[in-house]
Amino acid sequence: MALPGQSARSLQAAQASPSSSSVDGLELAGRHILLGVTGGVAAYKAAELTRQLIKAGATVRVAMTEAATRFVAPATFQALSGQAVFVDAWDERVPNLMPHIELSREADAMLVAPATADFLAKVVQGRADDLLSTLVLARDCPLLVAPAMNRQMWDNPATQRNVAQLAADGIAVLGPDEGVQACGETGFGRMLEPEVLVEEVIAFFTPKVLAGKKVLLTAGPTFEAIDPVRGITNLSSGRMGYALARAARQAGAEVTLVSGPTGLPCPVGVARIDVTSALEMHGAVLPQAVDADVFIAVAAVADYRPAAPETRKIKKTAAGGEAMSLALVRNPDILSDVAALPRPPYCVGFAAESHDLAQYAESKRIKKNLPLVVGNLIADGFGGDSNRVILFDAAGAHPLDTTRKDGIARAIVARVAAALAS
Ligand code: CTP
Repeated sequence: MALPGQSARSLQAAQASPSSSSVDGLELAGRHILLGVTGGVAAYKAAELTRQLIKAGATVRVAMTEAATRFVAPATFQALSGQAVFVDAWDERVPNLMPHIELSREADAMLVAPATADFLAKVVQGRADDLLSTLVLARDCPLLVAPAMNRQMWDNPATQRNVAQLAADGIAVLGPDEGVQACGETGFGRMLEPEVLVEEVIAFFTPKVLAGKKVLLTAGPTFEAIDPVRGITNLSSGRMGYALARAARQAGAEVTLVSGPTGLPCPVGVARIDVTSALEMHGAVLPQAVDADVFIAVAAVADYRPAAPETRKIKKTAAGGEAMSLALVRNPDILSDVAALPRPPYCVGFAAESHDLAQYAESKRIKKNLPLVVGNLIADGFGGDSNRVILFDAAGAHPLDTTRKDGIARAIVARVAAALAS
């Protein structure tokens, strides 16, 4: 999200870490967001957006247009944000009667969601005839807008001209989405869902250390069919791979995630290719790896698959009584094959071990010819939300002091970016 024309505080300043956040902390900890709400039916979603921004650690101040108060009462936002809500430019609660200056000065970013067609037009023209438009004009921080309107209003050349001008002025335009609208019509114009907007705000604050890079990942377990109803799989949840895909995308990369069966939602802005077996994963990864800058193999790929999966369900009677054996054959090693390409991407492997972690992780790094291996002891968090990991590279072992998977993901992304830069 480039902001070429921000006359306000620089994007770099906005992306600098807030003093109160830590790698392990909430992603918007220490961030002050000024949320502007304009008069569209999507204003009801701004209440949920307020809640989710606060849950992510932000402090939220809400300013509304008069029309927005027709859809949702200021009391709703006051209760959710725990802060006074402002509508009137003449609000006497601000001692110097300058709420348009006071409110924007403490903000790290201003987000207008929903932003109506009329409000976008006002921003383009630099008009300041109510508190919210005056705040936009007088702001000292980056502005993000989430348009929400009927599809005809969105498609109208006037709106399209305005949106192009907003982008040219360095304002981040988030969405809109396509889908069924409040008016019953279908098309572009729906406001992005609150959880997507929160992701975009987090991404906005994340330094773009992987800008212009293509990152390819594998995640989750594989499932190797025995017959139409049975198979061999493992307990990988996919969470670490998904957290890494999300962190890489927030760091500005173009991300493709080749995922085994997980049931996890695809991270915002990530292209996902769903696969089931190791052979399918191999077939999906190799063509993508040729022009990837980074390959991160997080998937717990089955090393073996049934030699001859049955097309019909295997019956006990046919299997032969009290015992049966299953012939298995080796699966290709996806990571080794990518690392052996003539021009391999920067390859990161994972090693989940039950014992002798350092020895196994280091031997995998050497054997597969990898610059970086992320090792963890299975007892420390396989399948859960947290983990304790050690990074192994040519310089030795580097334990991470973060344990949440999103914090680990950010730390790995930072290390990969530093390696690419050097
Ligand atoms: N990997 C892969 N393709 C495979 C097997 C593993 O890409 N067929 C990747 C994993 O995604 C992970 C790393 O290789 O990044 C794990 O290495 P590996 O030696 O295969 O681990 P294990 O299967 O656990 O090996 P072992 O049984 O020898 O411990």
